[in-house]
Amino acid sequence: MSQQTLVLIKPDAVARGLVGEVLGRLERKGLRIEAMRLRTMDAALADAHYAEHVEKPFYPPLKEFMTSGPLVSLIVSGDEAITVVRALAGATDGRAAAPGTIRGDLSLSNRENLIHASDSPESAKREIGLWFED
Ligand code: PPS
Repeated sequence: MSQQTLVLIKPDAVARGLVGEVLGRLERKGLRIEAMRLRTMDAALADAHYAEHVEKPFYPPLKEFMTSGPLVSLIVSGDEAITVVRALAGATDGRAAAPGTIRGDLSLSNRENLIHASDSPESAKREIGLWFED
């Protein structure tokens, strides 16, 4: 079933010049880029996007990192796109993520881990509404 998912290519990927690498992996898999925007997340958008995490101890450093510089927001579509993009991203912690995944190949951190991808159809709908309100 074709799905849409919200992807963020995080500030560390932009700063390291890895936007093309991440986009290329999504495109080579056969996924479609439906929308793409370079933008810096502000505090209000961070609180809304990470609403389920705002009370967690890791949220302040996560918020600081995610608002630290420009990121690329994307709507990505394709067959089972939500699960497929999460699999391409790999486990949250780059140190534990499997080789062959974006995080497993390119990250050594659970904060600076290059990519965010919606984890369910409900999250995808909510996050696409936040990032692409138009
Ligand atoms: S949870 O509690 O299992 O749902 O959290 P998890 O899915 O592992 O992580 C949610 C997002 O928080 C980021 N994260 C962190 N940021 C900073 N510091 C620490 N220690 C930390 N641990 C987790 C993680 O990268 C996830 O970001 P997103 O954007 O959702 O991928």
